[in-house]
Amino acid sequence: MRILTLGDELLRQKAAPVADIDGEWEKTALAMIEALKKGKGVGLAGPQVGVSRRIFVVNIDGDAPRVFINPSIVETSQELVKYEEGCLSVPGIWIDVMRPKSVKVQAWNEKGRPFTLEADGILARVILHEYDHLEGILFIDRLPELKRNRILAKLDRKVKA
Ligand code: NI
Repeated sequence: MRILTLGDELLRQKAAPVADIDGEWEKTALAMIEALKKGKGVGLAGPQVGVSRRIFVVNIDGDAPRVFINPSIVETSQELVKYEEGCLSVPGIWIDVMRPKSVKVQAWNEKGRPFTLEADGILARVILHEYDHLEGILFIDRLPELKRNRILAKLDRKVKA
């Protein structure tokens, strides 16, 4: 699996729901987990690997990899926290982003089984970041405009160099 980077149109599209949850998604999920480990990331969403479907995987040190198919965000905390984020599709950029401290999410796993999960800390952070990918939103979009423009200018210089 090749990871698409900023500038690829697919990253900006809203991903379509997975129609056959109990279908052949385990293979895709496992391939995504492999790509995630190879890229040394903590989360990877379908659109990042050219699969414009509502699926993402999370792999945090000390925890088993998790697969989220057709996730919905049920609830987020009022409280926001700052946390440093990066993205395999925006390589080389690490920056503080404000997001809800905790999240409740409902989804289906790679076996087609539904689950509900309440998360905080890094897990909540990754879930919210990956969910954004399904909506065509990148973490740099969550920055104040001035900061975002500075990052985009920096990336532009890198591309042209
Ligand atoms: Ni990302």
